[in-house]
Amino acid sequence: MKKIQFFDTTLRDGEQTPGVNFNTKEKVQIALQLEKLGVDVIEAGFPISSQGDFECVKQIAEKITSTTVTALARCVKNDIDRAKEALENAYSPQIHVFLATSDVHMKYKLKMTRSEVLAAIKEHVTYAKKYFQTVQFSPEDATRTERKFLIQAVQTAIDAGATIINIPDTVGYTNPTEFGQLFRDLKENISQFDQVTFSSHCHDDLGMAVANSLAAIENGATRVEGTINGIGERAGNTALEEIAVALHIRKDFYQAKTNIVLDQIKATSDVISRLSGLAVPKNKAIIGGNAYAHESGIHQDGVLKNPDTYEIITPALVGVKTNSLPLGKLSGRHAFHTRMETLGYSLSKEELFEAFKRFKQLADVKKEITEDDLHALILGQTQETDPSLKLSHLQLQFVTGGAQGAIIRIEQADGSILEDAATGSGSIAAIYQTMNRLLNQEVSLTDYRIQAITAGKDAQAEVHVIIQNQNHEQFHGIGIDHDVLTASAKAYLQASSKNKHFVLKEVK
Ligand code: KIV
Ligand code: ZN
Repeated sequence: MKKIQFFDTTLRDGEQTPGVNFNTKEKVQIALQLEKLGVDVIEAGFPISSQGDFECVKQIAEKITSTTVTALARCVKNDIDRAKEALENAYSPQIHVFLATSDVHMKYKLKMTRSEVLAAIKEHVTYAKKYFQTVQFSPEDATRTERKFLIQAVQTAIDAGATIINIPDTVGYTNPTEFGQLFRDLKENISQFDQVTFSSHCHDDLGMAVANSLAAIENGATRVEGTINGIGERAGNTALEEIAVALHIRKDFYQAKTNIVLDQIKATSDVISRLSGLAVPKNKAIIGGNAYAHESGIHQDGVLKNPDTYEIITPALVGVKTNSLPLGKLSGRHAFHTRMETLGYSLSKEELFEAFKRFKQLADVKKEITEDDLHALILGQTQETDPSLKLSHLQLQFVTGGAQGAIIRIEQADGSILEDAATGSGSIAAIYQTMNRLLNQEVSLTDYRIQAITAGKDAQAEVHVIIQNQNHEQFHGIGIDHDVLTASAKAYLQASSKNKHFVLKEVK
């Protein structure tokens, strides 16, 4: 059995999804979950791109204790210096240096000749190697790079000290036959192929990212890059959970093992879906809501007689729970704490105290508290302890057929209170209009989505919004509450707190 390493770039390439912007706390939360999932490498960000990204990489590097953490850098010394600084305290640091090698990128984007590109690879991989034992190099747009030149670029990086070569299909152009051939060509022409880790990085523009990554594995790649739920730039990246389960279910064919803890897949997918605001389609492989539902009578009959007839994956394998007992109003502190531990939360004494208080408040209005409710409760608690802006009061006036009114109070980190009122054509319009006045921001609402966390009329509401500022930057916010309007207000406030272009009004 060969070993396939998993390189997760949800926090870097995944965050390049329009409208997705995780804050530091969210990124750390995702990184800790990825560590539990057992990925081998977490790409935490691109430190030179902003101070915020630098801080995130630094914090993740400090919190992760058993997984390699990497950061992206162009072939620019400042990028490498910044990555080095951010990864200083990592348990196992790695750098990821990239430079485009296709003619179209070199001519129009880089305005560099082939020999200049080779010289830049040599210079910057050598420079990175002075600070990092493990240097990964990616020839961007490799699948549209002339093959002989690609081999030259890869050889240059290896000679300069790269021990990992990642082959990106940057624009999702290749197919499994071609991508497999590419890896065979590298194997044939690079004498150190077996001493170096070869990796694939696929985008899903033609819907072939997972198939292409598996073709790479069949032809010599021992590492696969991707994201959870396949999120990422444009059509997204390789969905790592699909690769992990495909390698497991078809180990007869792939003859490969991984470090992935399969029953952590659902929890990881859920947290990323919530924090990114990108719902998982019902028919998505492995983690979609319908992935384990059998609709046709013939299928149901077969599954009842023997699940093997129509079920190649059991829900339990990937952590999909079908019958966990709900908690309720009468559940005590002990049962609550035990369930939290089973769900994988290691909360401090204070956090547990606060969580139990919230659980009791929820149990007063909701009969059965399911595991989904508990995940939402912890997420809501994490979001609301963000000190920047807090919703402290929401009052609405509803008139049939007229303008609706909202009065809102927001508490800032220093405890000062802002208050304002406005009207709108509907209650949500009134809330958002009031918040725009309070935050003095001009933004448009580009997405609003509401979903019930569980079934039943007493379900909690989870609202996702995306707002866009005048610089066309988009910000996602999430709000969870038993009340739909409060959840809508919380979501908008959270998105607004990520939009640094607002100017707070005078304190009243
Ligand atoms: O898609 C791509 O080419 C990338 C590189 C930075 C690896 O994300
Ligand atoms: Zn990419």
